[in-house]
Amino acid sequence: MITDSHAHLEMEEFDHDREQMLERALKGGVTRMITIGTDLPSSAKAVELASKYGCLLSAVGCHPHNAKDCDKETLEELCRLAAAPRVVAWGEIGLDFFKLYSEREKQLISFQEQLDLASQVDLPVIIHDRDAHEEILAILKQNRSSRQRGVIHCFSGDYSIAMEFISLGFSISIPGTVTYKNAHDIQEVAGRIPIDRLLVETDAPYLSPVPMRGKRNEPLFVIHTAERVAALRGMDFHEFCRKTEENTSRLFGLRQEA
Ligand code: NI
Repeated sequence: MITDSHAHLEMEEFDHDREQMLERALKGGVTRMITIGTDLPSSAKAVELASKYGCLLSAVGCHPHNAKDCDKETLEELCRLAAAPRVVAWGEIGLDFFKLYSEREKQLISFQEQLDLASQVDLPVIIHDRDAHEEILAILKQNRSSRQRGVIHCFSGDYSIAMEFISLGFSISIPGTVTYKNAHDIQEVAGRIPIDRLLVETDAPYLSPVPMRGKRNEPLFVIHTAERVAALRGMDFHEFCRKTEENTSRLFGLRQEA
């Protein structure tokens, strides 16, 4: 049994086979999936899906790409959604200085506003970090509080950056890119960070792991990522799954399934 800690299952890529996709995941041992909003409509849909399917949990937030649309009304609505049952995190939020779909300044404002709101409602945060390691580390250091906790999703830094996030109390989520042949940095991260801070994810429908690379990603495929990481760590696959389940449950305040 394992949890896909990060997927976007509300997206239209799943409109034609959503129920079958969830069935495949459950049959394959992926028993929980966290579906993550990236703006107000997708957050609302994530909450709705989690209320409909017992295997789903949700997160609400405004992705850095959409920071330009993250106004006061949006934040108020997100707060309202965050109070719904089965919302386990605020995200995804963060900084993306690679694509810059929203201006830097807007991204920085929206990130800080949402870190504050997550603390207020006492939810962990799910952070997107693309070409912004130093800025995000600096902001998290400034904001340090007992309520601040979360995960760096789809981690793309190196081992020393991972350890800096870990020293701030954060966890690291390993995506399917760890299965790619030349992904040395993420393989080192996955193999060396403390096991109690490691989660796995698909980021479906994106970033399918080998041997599904190039196809639409879906939660079932997190098994390939977990197998690869367990191998990198020289761990038994089932023991690895048991550990990451504990981490996921602890971070998101979930009851551990039997
Ligand atoms: Ni994502």
